[in-house]
Amino acid sequence: MGSDAMANLVELRNVFKIYSEGLESEVRALDGVSLTVQRGEFVAIVGQSGSGKSTMMNVLGCLDIPTRGDYFLEGTDVRELTDKELSRIRNKEIGFIFQQYNLIQTLTVLENVELPLI
Ligand SMILES: Nc1ncnc2c1ncn2[C@@H]1O[C@H](COP(=O)(O)OP(=O)(O)OP(=O)(O)O)[C@@H](O)[C@H]1O
Ligand SMILES: [Mg+2]
Repeated sequence: MGSDAMANLVELRNVFKIYSEGLESEVRALDGVSLTVQRGEFVAIVGQSGSGKSTMMNVLGCLDIPTRGDYFLEGTDVRELTDKELSRIRNKEIGFIFQQYNLIQTLTVLENVELPLI
């Protein structure tokens, strides 16, 4: 990860996520979001349905990339990371509980929890 020990844990700079850009159906799910989170901070993101919370979480979790803007994770520009490095971060650094659960139906609850540990 980034070499600067004092770097923000999470830093979004002017991040946009725009679906169907330029079309009449354009949706600005993220419209210039800037956010910093420091190590040890406990943060809740609240807002009405459709305000872009899941879109932002997907960017923070390296599951989606912004249309425009910068995302630094521990000081590292995530665009500079390879697929392999992103996979490692998703596996080791970021814990996600999805809104749509994303569980494997054929496994028990315990097996679903165990799966990432294997
Ligand atoms: N893949 C997509 N294609 C087009 N529009 C999308 C897509 N994903 C999300 N949106 C739109 O982006 C906006 C933000 O959606 P998002 O799911 O991030 O909101 P949310 O704050 O998580 O809402 P909720 O509280 O209902 O979970 C909404 O207008 C949604 O319809
Ligand atoms: Mg959501």
